[in-house]
Amino acid sequence: MASAVAVIGAQWGDEAKGKIVHFLSREADFCVRFNGGPNAGHTVVDEYGQARLHQIPAGALHPQCLGVLAHGMVLDPWVLREELLALRAQGRPEPRIFISERIHLILPVHRLREEKEGVAAKLGTTKKGIGPAYVDRVGRCGLRLLDLWNDEYLREKIFSEHEPLGAIDPEQVLNDLLSFRQEFEKCIGDGQALLSQALATGKRVVFEGAQGTMLDVDFGTYPYVTSSMTTVHGIPGGTGVWPKFAAVVGVTKAYTTRVGIGPFPTEDRTDLGERLRKAGQEYGTTTGRPRRCGWLDLVALRYAQRINGFTHLALTKLDVLSGFPEIRVAVAYQLAGRRVEDFPKAFWELERVEPVYEVLPGWRKEIRGIQDFEDLPKEAKEYVRFVEEALSVPVALIGTGPEAQALIVRRELWS
Ligand code: GDP
Ligand code: IMO
Ligand code: MG
Repeated sequence: MASAVAVIGAQWGDEAKGKIVHFLSREADFCVRFNGGPNAGHTVVDEYGQARLHQIPAGALHPQCLGVLAHGMVLDPWVLREELLALRAQGRPEPRIFISERIHLILPVHRLREEKEGVAAKLGTTKKGIGPAYVDRVGRCGLRLLDLWNDEYLREKIFSEHEPLGAIDPEQVLNDLLSFRQEFEKCIGDGQALLSQALATGKRVVFEGAQGTMLDVDFGTYPYVTSSMTTVHGIPGGTGVWPKFAAVVGVTKAYTTRVGIGPFPTEDRTDLGERLRKAGQEYGTTTGRPRRCGWLDLVALRYAQRINGFTHLALTKLDVLSGFPEIRVAVAYQLAGRRVEDFPKAFWELERVEPVYEVLPGWRKEIRGIQDFEDLPKEAKEYVRFVEEALSVPVALIGTGPEAQALIVRRELWS
């Protein structure tokens, strides 16, 4: 019985995908990252403490689950080493990982280019070299992991790209890459072959999206997006397999956040937004930047639903809304005096919309850590039902706190 589950961010990233992926990977054989790189920051809080994962798939924290870094990612070898060290320092079992040999590498030159080209300031990027590394991939001048096995080609490439910059010692870059090759040789191979075999033999595979639908290079709020395919469509392109999904889970917070620059219709710049930030601890996992906060946006979520075909939703951070007397939800936009139900495609239109809010009653009771839906206050249950009815997708999982066990499971997702 082939079983694949996709976990996709439905908003602008940081929806708590890490926690949901970790939960769904408890009994999985593989957990696969297919897009992005160290711009991602996926948090898992378990018995070892808080793990902040950037490139290592969250499922790989479970000893039986192999974490696969598929070729659709861009890999920073230096960051990967640091991540592994940080996990080791927490006393965790060594995660098992497998890296596709076709994966493109992020080199020091990419981070430097990102700064020099000014995109970091213009788009509010994470400064991890993501854009330049993907540019080199499609520009056919990137360096792939498998190129580390061609000494002559590698030396020429590293020197020609780093020497003119002056700021970076190419010999050091080369040595680091050669020691990476030696250290990780055993876990590098053909990711496509591995995953097609896994699916053909009925293994359980979780696909872990990074970023969110609204940051997708095509479907997101272009140009205020990342450089990869963050939706379910990124899976075949980023892995080379075309699974039959048992479930496509859209992860959304019970409100909305965005980090970086770009349109955000339901952003709340009043005290309420500040209150959401404090209650939700909304500071970036990767960059520490305060996240912009606002209300749930059903226009954006309906659009994300159409693009990804979510079969289930995970509604996270519901506990953060406790204590708000009223909860707003955008059900439509006003644009130039007209009511708009569809998500505008141009950033310059999106910047001009005004949300049309429906106001729902809040609840006072603390709900942190609740695991049974029936234990939620009436208004919280109504909020969940409102969201699932508006999107015609069942809410299968509800987050009630950062800890792995702070989760309400309303439906099992593995068939
Ligand atoms: P990701 O990038 O989608 O994996 O999300 P992040 O890890 O960047 O951000 C989610 C943050 O919310 C992390 O700090 C999590 O520990 C925390 N978190 C996850 N689920 C919940 C929840 O249900 N309630 C609360 N209060 N925090 C949560
Ligand atoms: P996870 O996987 C939130 C945002 C950046 C910036 C834009 C482009 O943790 O949800 P990039 O460095 O990718 O070129 O930046 O995308 N961004 C994220 N925002 N969560 C993320 O990842 C993000 N990865 C990139 O803030 O606006
Ligand atoms: Mg994150």
